[in-house]
Amino acid sequence: MKLAGRVALVTGGAGGLGGAIALGAAEAGAAVAILDVKGVDDAVAHLHSLGFRAAGRTVDVRDGKAVASAVESLAAELGPIDTLIAAAGGSLGTPRDLDDISEDDLDLVLDVNIKGTFHCARAVLPFMRQAGRGAIVTFSSIGGRSASPVTGVPYAAAKAGLLGLTRRLAKEVGGENIRVNAIAPGLFLTDRLQGMFDALPEADRREVIDSIPLGRMPRIQECVDPVLFLASDESSYITGVVLDVNGGRFMAG
Ligand SMILES: NC(=O)c1ccc[n+]([C@@H]2O[C@H](COP(=O)([O-])OP(=O)(O)OC[C@H]3O[C@@H](n4cnc5c(N)ncnc54)[C@H](O)[C@@H]3O)[C@@H](O)[C@H]2O)c1
Repeated sequence: MKLAGRVALVTGGAGGLGGAIALGAAEAGAAVAILDVKGVDDAVAHLHSLGFRAAGRTVDVRDGKAVASAVESLAAELGPIDTLIAAAGGSLGTPRDLDDISEDDLDLVLDVNIKGTFHCARAVLPFMRQAGRGAIVTFSSIGGRSASPVTGVPYAAAKAGLLGLTRRLAKEVGGENIRVNAIAPGLFLTDRLQGMFDALPEADRREVIDSIPLGRMPRIQECVDPVLFLASDESSYITGVVLDVNGGRFMAG
């Protein structure tokens, strides 16, 4: 119960990784608040059906005012939010290749990943100050740490940019007992990605697995556990870092 008594806001909490993290946070003892653009009612109903305290709001994280008012009403319902796991993001269906990328694609990826994380972090900070502690986990990616064969320049820029956001914010709020760290997952086969992976020719799938020193694809729980580590007091003296969770596919120098 490493998050006993905590109130954790999980953005993208109706998605593949976010949904698993929301469940993991609830199992670790937190009350869970979910923000997502879709699937919120089902995600919250699922947590309620398992007996957990949870609430959610359907919000676009790009909209700072909407985020602030949703966070305020979630805090009124569940208690002061002391944990933020900012998983809303991704390459969001935008093309990989430079010539195919429109300005709208660029705006979408930068705005959801970076602006969305900024808005959510700023909205939860007053509640973390009220609680006297806080932990924020931002979502980078192996695609922000090295050149990805799958995602394009906007995703690489957004996920690398989030590392700057993470470090700068960690410096700014560290004195208030608030820690800010990033997780950088490799490829995790959520329901959305499993079909895509299965449809690849055997040789391509083999190539992906051969590029992973641990020699296998991860279980979803192997992303959930490191996120909960960064969110909990188990990492109480860690701030401003990025935790690569990729089976060794990218190793930082
Ligand atoms: N799955 C992976 O292999 C992988 C690898 C590296 C990083 N990541 C990162 O992990 C995070 C979660 O990825 P996932 O694989 O679970 O993807 P996902 O698409 O299953 O989940 C993302 C969630 O974010 C929500 N979302 C999208 N735009 C939003 C917006 N404007 N406002 C609010 N919510 C919005 C979606 O509705 C979805 O529920 C993302 O930031 C992604 O970039 C994933």
